[in-house]
Amino acid sequence: MARYAYVNGRYVDHRQATVHIEDRGYQLADGVYEVVGVRDGKLIDEKPHLDRLDRSLKELRIASPVSRKALVFIIRELMRRNRLRDGLVYMQVTRGVARRDHGFPTTAVKPALVLTTKNTRHLDADVGPGIAVKTQPDIRWERCDIKTVALLPNVLAKQAARESGAYEAWLIDSTGCVTEGASTNAWIVTRDSELVTRQTDTGILAGITRGTLKSIADKLQLKLVERPFSLAEARQAREAFITSATSFVTPVVRIDGEPVGDGEPGPTARRLREEYVRFADAGEAVT
Ligand code: PDD
Repeated sequence: MARYAYVNGRYVDHRQATVHIEDRGYQLADGVYEVVGVRDGKLIDEKPHLDRLDRSLKELRIASPVSRKALVFIIRELMRRNRLRDGLVYMQVTRGVARRDHGFPTTAVKPALVLTTKNTRHLDADVGPGIAVKTQPDIRWERCDIKTVALLPNVLAKQAARESGAYEAWLIDSTGCVTEGASTNAWIVTRDSELVTRQTDTGILAGITRGTLKSIADKLQLKLVERPFSLAEARQAREAFITSATSFVTPVVRIDGEPVGDGEPGPTARRLREEYVRFADAGEAVT
């Protein structure tokens, strides 16, 4: 079966899908993206992801390439064509194609819209064995709240982690605090049973999974505190975990080679993952 991509109004064979060499996303990283998780043919948290896409576009003064209604349709059409059951929908909007110049194009340029899907394994309530993280300095810009395609610091941090045998990088700011992962939000459970994740401001991405987990934690009557936490605190934590559209809730069992708690996935991450999967299950199937 051919896999399709959506490129500026057309569903095309993924292997032949191309964008123009003067696309500002390609030349200047002048664009934004979103990743929506799909489980059992159901989109997870579609609306907040699309709201965040709108926000990112607004922050960069890029016009929406299509209406919300059209985008919702395109997402479903692509999922159906690709028979997507488990995986993700990737969408990207760039400022469009124009003669290269750092300033915005002065003539009317249509923003470019690309969507792809990716199959991944079926994620369930079982958290698995957990992952290792490696710390890296957070060398990103001061608007990490915008989900832009300018991901080079994240790419380098992730690669350093992978080369050391870790799955994710945890980024450390100039005060010694963990901001977030290269492509995930970071959480710990302290010895006092406080669930801690950094507050959302311009320093991190306000993860959609993070937002949903806040509601779940509230429902479970867990004590949640949004504040900076230091690497030293994370090392002493009872539990640690990451969240994202593609990793759901995944325990962190090692930081820079040292075990977190007893080095095994903990009960809080297990419980939150179970509830998150239940939440994802409650959606309406597209495929
Ligand atoms: N990454 N922080 C960063 C820097 C991210 O790139 C992501 C998402 C998150 C988690 O956000 P959410 O819960 O909305 O997925 C936090 C996506 C999955 C990616 O780049 O592939």
